[in-house]
Amino acid sequence: MIFCISLIMLLLAGGNSSSPNSLSQEEERIFQYIDGHQDEFVQNLAGWVAVESDSIQPHLRAEVTRMVKIAAASLQDLGASVMLRDTGIQQLPSGQNISLPPVILAKLGEDPLKPTVCFYGHVDVMPAKIQDGWKTSPYNLTEIDGNLFGRGTTDDKGPVLAWINAVKTFKALNIEIPVNIKFLIEGMEEAGSIGLEELVEKEKEHFFSDVNYIVISDNIWLSTTKPALTYGTRGNACFSVQVECGEKDLHSGSVGGIVHEAMSDLIALLDSLVNSCGHILVPGIYDDVAPLTEEEKKQYELIEFDLKEYKASIGVKEIIYDTKEEIFSHLWCLPSLSIHGIEGAFYEPGIKTVIPSRVIGKFSIRQVPHMDLSKMECQVKRYLERIFSKRKSSNKLTVSMEMGAKPWVANINDPQYEAAKKAIQKVFNQDPDMIRDGATIPIARMFQDITKKSVMMFPIGAADDGEHSQKEKISRSNYINGIKVFASFLLEISKLHKTLQEAPSLKTMT
Ligand SMILES: *[C@@H]1O[C@H](CO)[C@@H](O)[C@H](O)[C@H]1NC(C)=O
Ligand SMILES: *[C@@H]1O[C@H](CO)[C@@H](O)[C@H](O)[C@H]1NC(C)=O
Ligand SMILES: [Zn+2]
Repeated sequence: MIFCISLIMLLLAGGNSSSPNSLSQEEERIFQYIDGHQDEFVQNLAGWVAVESDSIQPHLRAEVTRMVKIAAASLQDLGASVMLRDTGIQQLPSGQNISLPPVILAKLGEDPLKPTVCFYGHVDVMPAKIQDGWKTSPYNLTEIDGNLFGRGTTDDKGPVLAWINAVKTFKALNIEIPVNIKFLIEGMEEAGSIGLEELVEKEKEHFFSDVNYIVISDNIWLSTTKPALTYGTRGNACFSVQVECGEKDLHSGSVGGIVHEAMSDLIALLDSLVNSCGHILVPGIYDDVAPLTEEEKKQYELIEFDLKEYKASIGVKEIIYDTKEEIFSHLWCLPSLSIHGIEGAFYEPGIKTVIPSRVIGKFSIRQVPHMDLSKMECQVKRYLERIFSKRKSSNKLTVSMEMGAKPWVANINDPQYEAAKKAIQKVFNQDPDMIRDGATIPIARMFQDITKKSVMMFPIGAADDGEHSQKEKISRSNYINGIKVFASFLLEISKLHKTLQEAPSLKTMT
């Protein structure tokens, strides 16, 4: 009996030591150091949150610049060589010009035998005022039940500091950093990353030339407990449809019944776009949509998803679909069309018997690979013109696409996704959800298009972090585990990269 038990224990012990999640001595030291310095790391974050680096309100621009300089100083402390790049001015709607905060380009290490990982993040934040309904002071980091509340905690100061602290840990322990690491940190993300694309374009043959992997940490998991890696985002095209019936508003008593009304035309046009099940009625719009692959379907099965909780979190009673596969494919792999509003319409309470002379409908289409923006623009315009001509209205129609951002999708078999998965297994003891985002994050596509490098979105925040809300937080454990997972990622990508270089044929086998 005793013999049997000890044999089993021996087998178990043997099984453990060869499990992929077992830690090397180096990893043990790194994780212990991070655990032991938790409070210091949280204090770092408190210091950063205290800077009101709101990039939306021009009067706070100096604070954004101050924040960028604080981040630059932290990178200098790591021994990185840091450049602050001027990206010019921002022209405000008022006509006034204000300067943009500089963008940080930093690098640490230039060993040609190591891979080069470039991290992107931002240190500006959305506006926040206690009067907006914050329960805690937004710029005073406050810990409640293991959650660190404050503006920028999860978006995106926490993730930026997690990267910096991961590198700091290697330094503190005198462990060689296994990769060359670059940082691109900006201060205008919340205002649309003004000036960034031009800078990336200028730097593609310089700063980016030796970069192997670009990692963006600026989104959140799909779950509150299970980590995720994001490999795609939808694009967005915003349209306006204008119908004009005359020079001035009319009275329905005086002319109602004898003129073609702009509002009726517009409502017919908007109603022709999408049916009640969300199916877009514009002919040809689904032609270029990439089909859902078997691999992706399998991934969906593994994603942790509670339909009831999800419905509660978005505050609706019913959604159109009831299986995970249908929900994710409609959110991530299929386009959607939403109608947002009508400019020029009467919307106050009460009665007003006006016939508006000019109304503008606003709608957007979230598009997916491999839809082409300009082709879609033509399809939409042609379709609306056809619907309009059938009405035989004498009014004037103008359709325009005001803005178009392209969708992004990455190859999840790329080494950096493998490395991130391994790091997540080590720190969280589980596989990540492999997810896409139904929203539009143009930066991933921008990096991919301009630099042609592999791009991955590697979030550390949880689904309930409330980015941009009055309850923004990151949990202490997500922040601390985030530091660990980034440190672990650097070790894993260096190992994988080495294997690939020694046996390039392996690359095609992954
Ligand atoms: C703002 O900058 C633009 C472009 O450089 C320039 O044309 C314009 O005159 C400037 N406006 C003011 C108020 O200085
Ligand atoms: C931040 O909040 C703490 C209590 O959570 C308070 O003691 C401290 O004075 C506050 N600091 C500032 C700068 O408001
Ligand atoms: Zn962000």
